[in-house]
Amino acid sequence: MIGRLNHIAIAVPDLDASIKQYKETLGAIVGDPQDEPNHGVTVVFINLPNTKIELLYPLGKNSPITNFLEKNPSGGIHHICYEVSNIIKARDKLISEGARILGSGEPKIGAHGLPVLFLHPKDFNGCLIELEEATK
Ligand code: CO
Repeated sequence: MIGRLNHIAIAVPDLDASIKQYKETLGAIVGDPQDEPNHGVTVVFINLPNTKIELLYPLGKNSPITNFLEKNPSGGIHHICYEVSNIIKARDKLISEGARILGSGEPKIGAHGLPVLFLHPKDFNGCLIELEEATK
């Protein structure tokens, strides 16, 4: 069911410092910060030849990243995102197998303008998984 790894998301305590580090120290191609108020985050995408890295920084008062950074003050891997061809079919299969979907269970539009869902980390080895409906 899952397809390509779309991205790995890293929560960062200092967005400007992280952008500079990826650009200058690691020599990566780094996009511009985008605010995602529906998800409570500012995101920066870094394009690698085979996948993307998503830097996450808290946006607003109820950001899910704030708690994460309190527990992980230096930052850390926050989630990984797999592509699926049909997010509703994927969701229904996961629910039928006992997996929990975070939030309302309805897909939200993610940072790429495509529908996404998050799966409960306790059902997947402590790993927060994002599913994104791929464009083809
Ligand atoms: Co993501």
